[in-house]
Amino acid sequence: MTAAPIAAPADAVRVPPSRLVAWGARLFGAVGCDAAEARNIAAALVDANRYGHDSHGIGLAPQYVESVRRALVAPGRSPRVVSDTGALVALDGQMGFGRTIGEAAIDLAIARALAHGCAVVGLANTHHLGRIGQWGERCAEAGLVSIHFVNVRSRAWVAPHGGLDARVSTNPFCVAVPHAPHPLVLDYATSAIALGKTRVAVDEGRELEPGLLLDAQGRPTTDPGVLWRGAPTGALLPFAQHKGWALSVMCELLGGALTGGGAQDGRFNDTIVNNMLTLAFDPARLAGASTLEREIATLAGWVRASPPADPGEGILLPGEPERLAAAVRDRGGIPMPRRTLAALDACAASLGLHDVLEGPTA
Ligand SMILES: NC(=O)c1ccc[n+]([C@@H]2O[C@H](COP(=O)([O-])OP(=O)(O)OC[C@H]3O[C@@H](n4cnc5c(N)ncnc54)[C@H](O)[C@@H]3O)[C@@H](O)[C@H]2O)c1
Repeated sequence: MTAAPIAAPADAVRVPPSRLVAWGARLFGAVGCDAAEARNIAAALVDANRYGHDSHGIGLAPQYVESVRRALVAPGRSPRVVSDTGALVALDGQMGFGRTIGEAAIDLAIARALAHGCAVVGLANTHHLGRIGQWGERCAEAGLVSIHFVNVRSRAWVAPHGGLDARVSTNPFCVAVPHAPHPLVLDYATSAIALGKTRVAVDEGRELEPGLLLDAQGRPTTDPGVLWRGAPTGALLPFAQHKGWALSVMCELLGGALTGGGAQDGRFNDTIVNNMLTLAFDPARLAGASTLEREIATLAGWVRASPPADPGEGILLPGEPERLAAAVRDRGGIPMPRRTLAALDACAASLGLHDVLEGPTA
């Protein structure tokens, strides 16, 4: 099994993850988070970089800071319990930081699933929950299988299948299954690519492949700038045509409507609001944890025996690309485009911090 190469722009500066976490902790401390929350938010963002998802990495920090400035997210919040019937709990995230609120919600889901065998936790009105796989991994570490439906109440960025303009957002979906040494984790946006990957492409000055984007007139394009040059904007397409679209609708219904956070209705929020429905359950109370381990091993052996389409690549299971990326990036640093570093430095400077990231030895 080999790691899929992770493309990096030619001018990327490789920054050690620990340096980015320390930098981010200072940044979030400067906007009012206590030391633990600041470090937790920074570490979660940098973990997304480590796992190869720069779209959800530390490059989002300026957006988070801007949301604090505009009172669209607040440090130090806890979720409010809206209803609690044991195995079913409804929470309101009170627009706290997604890492803080998400952790509290998932830890409650874990506790209830361990007590009852299964749990359903609806979480409404939370700032960006980041890489949703982090929540699946947290459940898996507790020995639980979990399923997460998420809707995004920010601006619409994604066209419905068969439509020509943006009506919903990138609505991620995640399923995680515990497994030693690492869980299997399906975690992706229901758009053809995550929105942040278009921002990264703009920062790297590259076109995207065909079949992902529409311009503001509804025409196919490969230019990621159609989403970032101001109104009128283009749209991302759903992944796999009607299949991604149908799953996105379910994220609207289960993640948005059922949690109380709301499905898209054309009233757009100017920050990243996430709503998430989590289903967590104990595999030991179904066929049994050892049966699951055995089945995973059998399945993995069977599928990996398929002749590889590309002799340099093996067959991967969900979650493995992220582990492979982390192994590479933990050794060699995280490749950060200079434009992203400049934006991070400008953000820090605006808060009176002068710990500069940009530079060949950063
Ligand atoms: N919080 C939000 O509002 C929000 C919105 C959209 C996306 N996101 C996050 O963005 C991140 C990136 O999403 P994306 O759509 O770009 O992900 P992606 O298209 O890179 O897909 C990633 C998923 O596919 C699996 N995968 C990749 N290659 C594979 C292979 N060869 N074999 C088997 N499995 C493979 C990975 O393990 C992972 O589960 C995710 O973490 C998602 O949660 C968050």
